[in-house]
Order: sequence, then C-alpha cells, then structure tokens
Amino acid sequence: MLVYRPSGPRAWRLLLMILFVAAWKAGSGQVHYSVPEEAKHGTFVGRIAQDLGLELAELVPRLFRVASKGQGDLLEVNLQNGILFVNSRIDREELCGRSAECSIHLEVIVDRPLQVFHVEVEVKDINDNPPVFSVSVQKLSIPESRLLDSRFPLEGASDADVGENAVLTYRLSPNEFFILDIINKKDKGKFPVLVLGKMLDREENPQLQLLLTATDGGKPEYTGSVTLLILVLDANDNAPMCDRSVYEVKMYENSANQTLVIWLNASDADEGINKEMIYSFSALVPSSIRWKFLMNEKTGEIRVNDAIDFEESTTYEIHVDVTDKGNPPMVGHCTVVVEILDENDNSPEVVITSLALPVQEDAQVGTVIALIRVSDHDSGANGQVACSLTPHVPFKLVSTFKNYYSLVVDSALDRESVSDYTLVVTARDGGSPSLWATASVSVEVADVNDNAPAFAQPEYTVFVRENNPPGCHIFTVSARDADARENARVSYSLVERRVGERALSSYVSVHAESGKVYALQPLDHEELELLQFQVSARDAGVPPLGSNVTLQVFVLDENDNAPALLPLPGAGGGAGAVSELVWRSVGAGHVVAKVRAVDADSGYNAWLSYELQPAAGGARSPFRVALYTGEISTTRSLDEADSPRQRLLVLVKDHGEPALTATATVLLSLVESGQAPKASSRALAGAAGAEAALVDVNVYLIVAICAVSSLLVLTLLLYTALRCSAPPTGGACAPGKPTLVCSSAVGSWSYSQQRRQRVCSGEGAPKTDLMAFSPSVPPGSSSGDSGEQRDIFRNDCTLLTIQAQGVALYLVEIVLSWVGLIGQERLVQKKRLHHAERYC
Ligand SMILES: *[C@@H]1O[C@H](CO)[C@@H](O)[C@H](O)[C@H]1NC(C)=O
Ligand SMILES: *[C@@H]1O[C@H](CO)[C@@H](O)[C@H](O)[C@H]1NC(C)=O
Repeated sequence: MLVYRPSGPRAWRLLLMILFVAAWKAGSGQVHYSVPEEAKHGTFVGRIAQDLGLELAELVPRLFRVASKGQGDLLEVNLQNGILFVNSRIDREELCGRSAECSIHLEVIVDRPLQVFHVEVEVKDINDNPPVFSVSVQKLSIPESRLLDSRFPLEGASDADVGENAVLTYRLSPNEFFILDIINKKDKGKFPVLVLGKMLDREENPQLQLLLTATDGGKPEYTGSVTLLILVLDANDNAPMCDRSVYEVKMYENSANQTLVIWLNASDADEGINKEMIYSFSALVPSSIRWKFLMNEKTGEIRVNDAIDFEESTTYEIHVDVTDKGNPPMVGHCTVVVEILDENDNSPEVVITSLALPVQEDAQVGTVIALIRVSDHDSGANGQVACSLTPHVPFKLVSTFKNYYSLVVDSALDRESVSDYTLVVTARDGGSPSLWATASVSVEVADVNDNAPAFAQPEYTVFVRENNPPGCHIFTVSARDADARENARVSYSLVERRVGERALSSYVSVHAESGKVYALQPLDHEELELLQFQVSARDAGVPPLGSNVTLQVFVLDENDNAPALLPLPGAGGGAGAVSELVWRSVGAGHVVAKVRAVDADSGYNAWLSYELQPAAGGARSPFRVALYTGEISTTRSLDEADSPRQRLLVLVKDHGEPALTATATVLLSLVESGQAPKASSRALAGAAGAEAALVDVNVYLIVAICAVSSLLVLTLLLYTALRCSAPPTGGACAPGKPTLVCSSAVGSWSYSQQRRQRVCSGEGAPKTDLMAFSPSVPPGSSSGDSGEQRDIFRNDCTLLTIQAQGVALYLVEIVLSWVGLIGQERLVQKKRLHHAERYC
C-alpha cells in the first residue's frame, strides 16, 4: 500500500504539481464510488485499478498507492486484484459531522510515469443514530385552572444522522388532556408543543405522566423518548361537599343539652387552605332553630342546646353552609332534617264538658248525663287514650267519637239504695309506661215518688178497755216512705166505712200527721167487741202513693155489769126472790132450789159464784149453795127443829175486779110428807125439768169442750213437733209473720165464740204456766205504749212444749171441775195470775 504523505515545502510543491496533473487527468475522467458508513471490513467499494485504466500487473511495479487527505486508512486497495475495500469503520457523523455531503477523497498515485488520480468515495449515511432527548424526564407544572388550548413548548430531540435519518416525527402517549402540536422552525427543525385539549383537574389527576416519543425517518427508524411529568397545580375550584345533601336524623324529644345530633363531615377536594372548612347555619335558618341547636364551626358537630319538645315541633330543618378558606371561598350546602320522636311525656287530659245532674232515679237506660272529652298531646300509641269508669256502677261510658265519650245510665237507678255515686273516669294512654289521668264526677240521684208509704205490718191488733175516756189515744200508726222530702211526707187518714148504724169516724179518728188513732167516745164491750178498720197513708208526691193498714181494735171487757138474777121458771117472786117448797123428808144432799143469774160482761167478769150469806141468828142452816151452779141442796136430813120457813140470802158474785154482786133471796117452805101442794109439786116438777135440761146442756158442753180440747192438744202437739223437727228459721213469732195457733176460748164459758189468738213463748224468763187465754186477756203483753200490742216473741220449742202440756192440764182440770172432782179453788188461783193490761 502506498500512502503519500506531503511533508515540507518540497512535498507541497510536488503536491501542487500532482494536483495540477490530477485535475487535468480528472478532467478527462474522474472515478466516483460510494460506500455506506459503518460498512464491514473488506466491503467492496470499487474496482479502482480497472477504473483508472491500470493493469493489475503494473500496480506493484508502478508503486500504486492511495492517499487520503487526513482520513487515514479507512479504505484500502488490494494490489492483487485492484479492488478498493473498506478497511476500518467509517462513521459518517465522525467524518463529516452534520454536513449533508460526506465523501472521502482518495488520491491514487502511480509512478513510472507518475500519474495521480483522484477518486471520490462518497460515504453514504445510514440511520445509525437514534433521536436523543437531553433529559430523560421533563417536568412541567400546570395549574389546573389553565384554559383550553394553552400551549406548553417542549424541548425537542436531536438526531446525529442526516437527511431522512434525521427527520424526526413526534408522538405523544395517548391521554385525554393534551394533544401534540409540532412547530417547524426554519433551519432549526421541529419543536413539539403540548396543547391543553381538556381541562385539567387536580382533584382527579394530580399528576400526569406522558411519554413523548421522537422517531427519525431512517430505515429502520430509531426512536427516542422522554417522560413528561406534569404536576397539576391546585386551584380553589371545589366547594366543600357533604356526602349527602340531606341527612335525616331521628332523635327523641327531651334529649339532654349537648346531645350530639349529627357530626357533619364535609369534604373539599382541593388542597391546603382551599380545603379548610367552616361550618355555619345558613342564612335560611330561623333564629328559633339557632337557639335549639349549636353548631361547632370547626368540627361540624351539631348538638342540642335547648329543650326539644315533640309537641312544639316534630321536625327541624337545619340548612348548613360549609365554606372553605380559598380565594374566592366556595360554599357547600347540606340540610339536616331532624325528626323528633315522641316520648310519652304528656299525661292524658280528661274534661267533663256537660252535666245533666242530678239524674232522676227513673232515668231510662241510655240517658246521657255527661260528655267527656279526653286528649293527649303525644302522638301514636302515646297519644291513644282509653277511657274507663269505676267498676260496678250503673253507668257506663259510650264512645261517641274518637276521644269523646258519653256517660250514660247503664241500668236502673234507685235513690233509695244509693243516692249518689262518685264516678272516677280514668284515661290511660298507650305509652309504655303509660300515663293516666282521672276526673271524678259526683252523680246525685234525684228522688222520684216510687215508694209508697209502708207499714211494718199489714195488720195491727189493738186492745182497748171499754169505757175509755172520749178522745183517748189508743194506737199510733206509722208508715215509712223510702223516698225523700215531699215524696216521703206521709199523711194518714181513716178509710171511712159504716159500723152498724154509725159512721166509723164517729168511733175513731186519725191525726193526719202523727198517725195517732183516738177513740172518740167510750167504747162498750157489750155493744162492740171488735172494731176493724183501715187507716190509709199517703205521701205528698205527685202523683201520690198510698197504702192501707188494717187495725183490729178489740174492746176489752171491764166488770161494769153486775150479775142479774133470773126468775125461776114457774116460781113467783120476781128477780132476786125465789120461793120454794121443800119436803121435810128429803135426805142429805137433796137439791131443793137453784139460783140463776147472768152477767152481761164476759170472761171472769161474767163468771158467777154463789155463796150463802150466814143467817141472821147465827143458826146453822141445813142448806148450802153449790159455788158455781147456784144449786141449793140440803146438808143433812131436815128435822122438826128446822123452822118451816127458811129465808136464805144467796150472794151472787162475779169474778171481776172489783167483783160485782147481786143478792138473791130464797124463801124455802118446809112441808110435811104427804102434803103435796100442787103448786109446789108443779114447781118442783118444773124445777126438775129445768134441772134435767141443765144437766143435758152441761153434758153437751163437757162433750164439746173435751172434743175441742183434745183437738187443741193434738194441734199443739203437732205444731210443737213440727217446730221442733224443723230447724228454726229466724223468729217464729217475729213481727210481720206471726204463727197463729188456734185455741178455744176456754177461759170463759160465757164465750161460745172461738177466737184466734197468738200463742207464743214470751220474752224473758220461761213461764211454766198456762198460756192459753181468753180474748179478754192479752197474752204475754208487756206494758206497751197505750195499748199498742207488742207481739214480739221468741221461738222456744221447749217452752212451747211445756206450755202445751200446761194448757192440756188446765183443760183437763176444767173438765174435771165440771164434773166436780176437783175443788174450784185452783181455778180461782189460776185466774189471779192473769192481769189484764190496762189501757187508757
Ligand atoms: C363524621 O365522622 C365521625 C368521626 O369519624 C363519625 O363518627 C360520624 O359518624 C361521621 N358523620 C357522618 C354523618 O358520617
Ligand atoms: C185503701 O183502701 C181504700 C178503701 O178500701 C181503697 O180505695 C184504696 O185503693 C186502698 N189503697 C191501697 C193502697 O190499697
């Protein structure tokens, strides 16, 4: 290889000369090659020897050599085959920089003759350099508030290649905000510019990372890229926001102060001072709500600040403003709806609105007497009120409308049983626990004349002694009327009727107010034994009501009639004087005459006894008088010593107290046997006839009495047995339902009439004595108020039995006395035991 290297002035002269020759030669034909840069060692460039017209053989001898100006040995010639080839790496960019043309100038020199050839080897660019950015990351800060189409120039890339290989195109990674614009600057290539295609939002994308890629035009192409880091700067473009626009909060009323209602957590998407928030009540919030609630402006807590009352308001609507501290500030709004829940904090109220009182006792069932209104300020179950009334009253509540009730009569009223009621109306709400209230109504029951005056007994028996003074108070009737005032004012009157010829009112009168019954004139037992009449009681109601009571006034006998002597049948001498003839031959015990007398009274007062008055001379009379029959019989045989004319005084005495007497004079003429005066025998026969009739009567009487007595005993025994076997039910002889026992009026034989009489055991010490009475003697009567008959008796079976026995014994005694077996004295003693009650 030959390399010409000019050196020194000589060399330069030579070089100039060569240049001259070469220029000449070149003018005749210059060889031109091209080779791509970066070609491998040995890459064929051109057949340089041939092209220069040189023989291969002469190359070496002619010292073929190639010189390049300052460019070393990039190219070499193979002297064997005259081929120019690449010797070492050719870098166009190193060789020529950025100039568009780049060639290697070769000077080919051969000697003998010296010839210089110029060969141009053009180095063709290949794309061996990528576009390069000066930094790997480009940072940009862009406020989010930048407007659309804002432009942000970027630093472009550079490419060492030339021509097409250095023509750059830019690409931006896909993104929604920026588009790429390219600015072509003369001589300075293209510059990329970012253009804002969509508004930035820091809150959404606080930073963006884009990739800008530059691509050259080579084949194959090279790319270079840079990361664009875009920081989005904050602007106060976000208002504070609550997470909901309306919060619904439920809260019980009566919540304590400082109770948390809600803790608002507003948020602001901005940064820094732009997100610092202040909570406040909106201007819309009325002051009433501002008082009730307290707003913490920093934390957003809303707390109770005053009494919360459901009944005042059930909801509160609180509008809240949240303001940030940006410039200008932004405001967010939200609303808190506080729903107040009811608590059972109100008692029901009961109002009794109208009263129709007092209520008449005859008010119909269903009559409204009061209207009741209940109310409760609470709501729901807490405000639902149920009303109830005191139990067991004849009233009830009827619901007329929601919360309205009528108090009505539910069953018949009776002022006489209950004259007033205190009703308690209880209203209870449905809360838990429930609250209640009561109201009481006093219901007075007004009287209606629905009760007639009532007597304790339907019938009263009154005993009045005869010969009472006129105007004597004999009894007091009294009727009670259960009604009130006028309706209970009782007045009495006599139920007029006729008693025989006369009006009842001529016998008795009744004091209208006091009910006192007066006998207007003296009563006469012998004329009227029983006065039966009715007294009527009427109240002063309208219309009046009345009732009657029957009074049985028994006129008790008094001994006001002296015995009256009856004339003997067929005998002369008239009343009070009897003359009889007596045979001297009659033996002892012969009945010679009989004194007959009657007494208008009754009972003991009519029971006569006969006594012989002692003779004036004191001589013993041969006659005696039977105490009860009045029969005069002989005590011994008559003898001559007896005076032929005997005058006997017979004292006829009744058993009244005091006793009344009559004296009968009996004249007896003693006649000898054989003398049979017609008159006397007729008289005697008449006397005997009368005697027989009397005996007959007595026998009938005895039979009758025995029959009646045994009937009575039987009845008594039966009654006693029944009473004793049956359990006692209250007083057997209690007033109002006395037990009546029939008894014959055996105490007096003047009484042929049977009377009903009460036989009961008396109060107090048991009497073992007889208890069967004549009607003239009130049984067991205690000294009552002027003749008022009290027959309050106690049931005592034992006593009754004893008394029944006593009665039986007494009856037997009477019967026996009739047949003369028992002395008459005991009867007298018995009779003394009975004292008639004194009336008037
Ligand atoms: C606000 O935040 C507090 C604390 O984290 C929480 O207790 C409260 O419930 C939040 N408020 C709302 C309305 O979410
Ligand atoms: C009372 O007796 C009178 C007369 O007998 C009669 O008119 C009247 O109806 C009676 N009164 C009563 C309540 O029975």
